[in-house]
Amino acid sequence: MTPRLPAVRPPVFRGRLHDARTATSIGRWLGVAIALCFGTGLISHYLQQPPGWLADVLPSRPVWGYRFTQGLHVAAGIAAVPLLLAKLWAVYPKLFEWPPLRSVRHALERLSVAVLVAGAVFELLTGLLNTVQWYPWPFSFVPVHFAVAWLLAGALLLHIVVKYPQIKGHWTRKSPGTVALPAVDGPDRRSFLTGLAAATGAVTLTTVGQSFTPLKAFDVLAPRHPDHGPMGLPVNRTAAAAGVAQVDSAAYRLMVAGPRPYTLTLAELAALTQYESVLPIACVEGWSKSAHWTGVRVTDLLRRAGAPSDARIRVVSLEKYGSYRVMEMGREYAHDPLTLLALKLNGQTLDPDHGYPARIIAPNRPGVLQTKWVTRLEVL
Ligand code: HEM
Repeated sequence: MTPRLPAVRPPVFRGRLHDARTATSIGRWLGVAIALCFGTGLISHYLQQPPGWLADVLPSRPVWGYRFTQGLHVAAGIAAVPLLLAKLWAVYPKLFEWPPLRSVRHALERLSVAVLVAGAVFELLTGLLNTVQWYPWPFSFVPVHFAVAWLLAGALLLHIVVKYPQIKGHWTRKSPGTVALPAVDGPDRRSFLTGLAAATGAVTLTTVGQSFTPLKAFDVLAPRHPDHGPMGLPVNRTAAAAGVAQVDSAAYRLMVAGPRPYTLTLAELAALTQYESVLPIACVEGWSKSAHWTGVRVTDLLRRAGAPSDARIRVVSLEKYGSYRVMEMGREYAHDPLTLLALKLNGQTLDPDHGYPARIIAPNRPGVLQTKWVTRLEVL
């Protein structure tokens, strides 16, 4: 006789670490982190690729705006990693509930949870790999990360609506859902949540110094350190990577195209009135640092070309490759007195990797739009 195998039953999980109170406690912080990522991500997206109607009204103040929002985006994304792992560990027993599908409504709810989990894992993973500039996938990062962010936001909203009764019942230790069990917040849950808070704090502390420079001494895990790079400032794209050969200062020309076009040599550019702006360079990948930039006001160059005071401009680089070779600038940036065609960084001639002989530096702008190796300004 063939021995009978025991019936396979779905695993049963019990305990405070897998209950709705734990899911709510972690969910609160995860929800805040994901909401911060979503809001600051939208800001970054529209600052980089504004639709036509927005391009001229995007503000150039506060000067540290993009530095703050993008630093927060990456910091919240990094903090969300331990929170997401802990949350998934706390709720995974729910995924083994039996029967797996009870009704059409239940099936739809499960589908939304699948989108939520997949979206959260995808966003955090791709975002993290983007900070180290590693793209091991066949699609373009920016549009896909942006599209999945909307899916995730929608799925999270739905999740909160569906779980609202449980969330309300377990929001605090004294919430109605938790009073029935007196020992409900016993030492094991407290230890787990304290450990999670410590892990989240540790990853934040060891990475946030890449943008919040008072904590740069603790920046040991972030891919960039704000002091490491040519002239003490990081660069994302070197001159070699951009295909810009050593620029011959005698041969260099800046062309300003407008109603009264003109060309300047480097010596002529340096002989114009020079201004200093203290502005951060704030990278989309999260690092940022403030520096002293010296150069010619872009608005002065435009006025000399006969540009109207509300003109939008196009900036062209000597770069051979790359999608940021040509950049457009709305009127708020182009005519801001702090926006410079910079020739010096912290009093020294620009290093080739920082855009020698001339680069754009403007307030409240993503680093990828601070075009280096500028050769042409066009009034649009
Ligand atoms: C990216 C963010 C989030 C992810 C990936 C996520 C994931 C999950 C998953 C996979 C489940 C089990 C689903 C089920 O079978 O019903 C769940 C349950 C739950 N989540 Fe979330 N969640 C997130 C955010 C939140 C937020 C912001 C809150 C509210 C503060 C929350 C509160 C809950 C509650 C109360 C449960 C039910 C737990 C139980 O019945 O034991 N979640 N979550």
